[in-house]
Amino acid sequence: MASRKFFVGGNWKCNGTGEDVKKIVTVLNQAEVPSEDVVAGQGAAAAGLRRRSAELLGAQGRRLHRRDQVPWVILGHSERRALLGESSDFVADKVAYALTQGLKVIACIGETLEQREAGTTMDVVAAQTKAIAEKISDWTNIVLAYEPVWAIGTGKVATPAQAQEVHDGLRKWLHSNVSPAVAELTRIIYGGSVNGANCKELAAQPDVDGFLVGGASLKPEFVDIIKSAT
Ligand code: G3P
Repeated sequence: MASRKFFVGGNWKCNGTGEDVKKIVTVLNQAEVPSEDVVAGQGAAAAGLRRRSAELLGAQGRRLHRRDQVPWVILGHSERRALLGESSDFVADKVAYALTQGLKVIACIGETLEQREAGTTMDVVAAQTKAIAEKISDWTNIVLAYEPVWAIGTGKVATPAQAQEVHDGLRKWLHSNVSPAVAELTRIIYGGSVNGANCKELAAQPDVDGFLVGGASLKPEFVDIIKSAT
């Protein structure tokens, strides 16, 4: 992973009370976190972060126009794919548009439990990635987030071997279908029930370049996750 900087996103969604958010903001502001880490807060809840951290804010799925305040956007999250019917094509359009607006994109892909059990995981994530690859040419500002649907918010984290297998497959897909350079440089991060206890072993996998964290990103253990590669 030498050439890829470890990347951690905290996807707060609409979780947490104002009090929870204040607490985690204080913890993050006090922690020595590397500059490339990302906090994806929502709206005013995130405004308490100091300037250095405020540069790291993102949003999920919307506010594409506020690039001056929101450099990162999370697109293609399975909750939006499932609940709002966002197709891979639609997600790819949003990714392409976001890039034209100067945003950086965390693009989410991942299979359902049924798809995993049917043995189609790689086909599913490759098709989701292909839809994006067909609509963009520059991967510089994209981070690919592998989030198996069955692991999101369920406490059922992918094993390090499962995560590594898919990340390795995705990198090989990028190598063959986009370019060797994009495969080498694009960060592929894992999301789904990551916490302070399981992050180290996942981070040790050669193709796991970081995390996209839901529930645990509102807890002090988020700092341990951010630092899990060090
Ligand atoms: O985008 C991250 C998220 O969906 C994973 O959530 O709570 O399983 O870490 P969680």
